[in-house]
Amino acid sequence: MQKNVHHYVIMSVLVIVVTILTYWGLNVLGLMPVQASSQAVQIDWLFDIEVKLIAFFFALIMVPLCYSLVVFRQKEGDETDAEHIEGNTPLELTWTAIPLVIVIALGIIGADNLRQIKTVDPQAIEIKVIAQQWKWLFQYPEGFSSTKLYLPVNQQVDLKMQSQDVIHSFWVPEFRISQDVVPGSIEDYRITPNLLGNYKVRCNEMCGKNHAYMESDVLVVSQADYKTWVGTQALSAKATEMASAGKPDAGRGQTLYQESGCPACHSLDGSKGIGPTWKGLFQSQVKLTTGSSVLADDAYLTESIKLPQAKTVAGFSVNAMPNFSYLTDGQVADLVEFIKTIK
Ligand code: CUA
Repeated sequence: MQKNVHHYVIMSVLVIVVTILTYWGLNVLGLMPVQASSQAVQIDWLFDIEVKLIAFFFALIMVPLCYSLVVFRQKEGDETDAEHIEGNTPLELTWTAIPLVIVIALGIIGADNLRQIKTVDPQAIEIKVIAQQWKWLFQYPEGFSSTKLYLPVNQQVDLKMQSQDVIHSFWVPEFRISQDVVPGSIEDYRITPNLLGNYKVRCNEMCGKNHAYMESDVLVVSQADYKTWVGTQALSAKATEMASAGKPDAGRGQTLYQESGCPACHSLDGSKGIGPTWKGLFQSQVKLTTGSSVLADDAYLTESIKLPQAKTVAGFSVNAMPNFSYLTDGQVADLVEFIKTIK
């Protein structure tokens, strides 16, 4: 035993060196994008502890393995068998107990970390996020919506997220947090951006053909710039709303048709999709699942957009269409006006 001590000393030194090199190497690779939220600071702190442990255990396994391969290889002419070992109780207890303690400790630290990340700021700005194939829409409390997410720096926002169709996932790598958006429920996503800059929200859940392109700009701006932007948007939304209240416009309706995801289900050329085509729809007799017919007038079209489940067209599924209750009356009127032009 005495004559083997130097092997342990050399391996211990090598384990320390390899641990440091592995940890340094992983950091040099720069696997993480910039840290742009206070939640990211918490998450990266925990992640760093885990990477250090990973580096150490990697060294603890690889160093004795490689050392043995080199130093204890079979000498030429040595035909003797190796020593047979029948288990080692103290060693097995040690390698069970230490990882157990580490895992429990990480569990406690992780739970506390999660508590800090989920801390609720009563002053948080609430922004509604609508996910649908294949775009994001952001509705601000001031009564306008935007396809880009503007956020003020150093202020918690509470994103209330909902899906119009399938499961999507809201993911801004620089914020570190990813949250699934499941149809039928509203998911909270609390974030406190702490670094000015332009980022991107990507969809992190396979959601169909254009999943890869489901991304939007996320702009973290100063609190003053945010106020200015919100003011301008609210004003122009008001102007548009007043204009639509005056008279519906088929042009605006056509833009909405594209922006609200209608083409995914409703064709304009008469072909059957997930929902009825819009070609020749206005003033036609529509057969319903109940067996009766209804005239496709303004009232019917408006109701079908706002409350799709009220009347179901024969041959289509009752729950295929989500509720578009977030559209304003003016926007619905614009859409109906557009439908009238598809003859
Ligand atoms: Cu939405 Cu992938």
